[in-house]
Amino acid sequence: MLVVHGPNLNLLGAREPEIYGRTTLAEIDGALVDQASNAGVELRSFQSNHEGALIDQIQEARSWASGILVNPGGLTHTSVALRDALAATGLPVVEVHLSNVYAREDFRQHSLVSGIAAGVVGGFGPESYRIGLEGLLTRLRAR
Ligand code: DQA
Repeated sequence: MLVVHGPNLNLLGAREPEIYGRTTLAEIDGALVDQASNAGVELRSFQSNHEGALIDQIQEARSWASGILVNPGGLTHTSVALRDALAATGLPVVEVHLSNVYAREDFRQHSLVSGIAAGVVGGFGPESYRIGLEGLLTRLRAR
């Protein structure tokens, strides 16, 4: 399983904590590794502030991953290229957000990724990742 975190998510814990909370990215990734390993699944995570670096990792996932959990950050609302890369993998994709983007500014209320996602989870803080991974694992087991 590949977990992809987009721009600015490296700052979690310090970045606008009233919106994104105090949990760090390392803590989120640690919990996801445990959750996946309990299910017998290998999980690797990757964060970048660079769109091309994210796309490179997503393309590589075709060779090893069974699914992708992605929080595209601000690229959610802007990046056709990221959406295309995710779609090109042919892997199940679950989109997650810490915040409820639909309760925020207008420009956050459209996601370019949701249309190619198997599911979307948002608004539960770090729990969004846990719920999203559970959904992805359940979907993979059902195959
Ligand atoms: C976010 C929501 C996005 O609108 C924002 O640009 C982020 C984080 C979230 O997890 O709530 O960087 O994806």
